Amino acid sequence: MKKGIFITFEGGEGSGKSTHIACAADYLRKKKKKVLVVRDPGSTQISEAIRAILLDSKNQEMAMETELFLYLAARAQFVKEMIMPALQKGMVVISDRFEDSTVVYQGFAGGISPKRIQKIVPEARGNLVPQLTFLLDVSVEEGLRRAGRTDRMEQKSVAFHEKIRRGYLALARKNRKRFMVIATEAPFDKVRKKIEEGLDRAIA
Ligand code: TMP
Repeated sequence: MKKGIFITFEGGEGSGKSTHIACAADYLRKKKKKVLVVRDPGSTQISEAIRAILLDSKNQEMAMETELFLYLAARAQFVKEMIMPALQKGMVVISDRFEDSTVVYQGFAGGISPKRIQKIVPEARGNLVPQLTFLLDVSVEEGLRRAGRTDRMEQKSVAFHEKIRRGYLALARKNRKRFMVIATEAPFDKVRKKIEEGLDRAIA
């Protein structure tokens, strides 16, 4: 069986993930790699429907457990339907967010204990772990300015988003081999170059 490469991008709101993911996919395609870009939550019909519930600003009363299980349900679906088949074909799969988002948003900032997170969260992805994770780091003030605070998650307090940033940086320190932390307030081309260096190592 051929084996692909699984790469994730993580970061707070307005960290520049979408733009840099598009650049990363272009770069890999120029290197003749077959690339699939997906987003979590989303990418399949079922996962996109779950995403719409999660981000709808009308759903302010959503319980933290509901939020957690909806993120996991969306992930379970796109892992089975999209990621695993692509990896089996030998493709490079780039995901805009993955399990680290749950650990940080619902765990570190949302208050679900590390013990419960460790017990429940991995169920959604089986034994699939990213080979490389780019953490795009930006100050909360700049990130929320860029994101515009339109959806339910972006509307949470500044203190919540500060926790997200601290949570990600702590997670990256714990998983130094997998994470590459990149400050996205640096000039765009500098950020792009650093990401390309990471990609080169991943596909070597
Ligand atoms: P996005 O807008 O970056 O695509 O992400 C959607 C929102 O969902 C974002 O606010 C982060 C949040 N999120 C979680 O809270 N937990 C998760 O497990 C995932 C994947 C995303």
